[in-house]
Amino acid sequence: MKVIWNNQLVEREDVKIDMEDRGYQFADGLYEVIRAYNGILFTAEQHVERLFTGAKKIDLILPFTREELIYLLNELIKENSIETGNIYLQITRGVSSPRNHTYPKIEFTSPVFTASTTVVPRNLETMKDGIKVITLPDMRWLHCDIKSISLLGNIMAKHEAHKKGKDEAILYRDEAVTECSASNVSIIKNKILYTHPDGNLILSGITKTVLLKVARQRGIIVKEETFTLKDLKEADEVFASSTTMEAMPVVEIDDKPVGDGKRGPVVKLLQELYVNEVELTCGSII
Ligand SMILES: Cc1ncc(COP(=O)(O)O)c(C=O)c1O
Repeated sequence: MKVIWNNQLVEREDVKIDMEDRGYQFADGLYEVIRAYNGILFTAEQHVERLFTGAKKIDLILPFTREELIYLLNELIKENSIETGNIYLQITRGVSSPRNHTYPKIEFTSPVFTASTTVVPRNLETMKDGIKVITLPDMRWLHCDIKSISLLGNIMAKHEAHKKGKDEAILYRDEAVTECSASNVSIIKNKILYTHPDGNLILSGITKTVLLKVARQRGIIVKEETFTLKDLKEADEVFASSTTMEAMPVVEIDDKPVGDGKRGPVVKLLQELYVNEVELTCGSII
């Protein structure tokens, strides 16, 4: 399998990352995950745009244009013959020695970029049966809009869920539900879809954005408003969303069923609308 290392496709074994790379030492970097269907990247422009927005927020000057990056990612997908799978890409501020918290001057360092692919089929069974989750206080920092490689807060929450035999953790600050450890969360109550507004407390999910668009087009009322833990637990339907999960029904929260404990009609409809949207770019995926 080939990977991207800076601006080249190389064998994974040939990648050499310096121990004083700021990504390794400070988690000073950003990442993205993009899904491919039928060998075609879905919403690549939106993911790349989010990377550029994040880079601007941390004064990281990216060493490529949006078009150059998309070209490189497509080359990797082709080279590795990825049909249905994920591309993970990461960029760090690069090597600075000796270690120093301050951002190094741009003339003394260059960002280090890597990308790799995995073959991951759509998980149709789980998309039908749904996932079980716990709720946890959101202990992360206050820049959750930046897709930072510093994910300790997220992985600690996910680990807590796994220790309890569950799939995800839904996070809350005070009483307001924010998002999950690796996905956004939305609820349906009386046919209205509620989800946390974009801002610094959540990652503005590309999947969520697509789902809200198709929901509105279908006439579903969407309210990007905070909702509480109580609202979450009294919701008719709950779903998590991410690039890798698409729209995923949440059927159990803290050991209690959501509604009748089965995927609900609105989430099922959203899953179908999402597939339609994917098919516009990538061709048939059923
Ligand atoms: C914390 C968090 N929120 C939301 C998402 C969903 O984002 P997207 O739909 O762009 O994959 C992710 C995906 O990795 C995430 O890690």
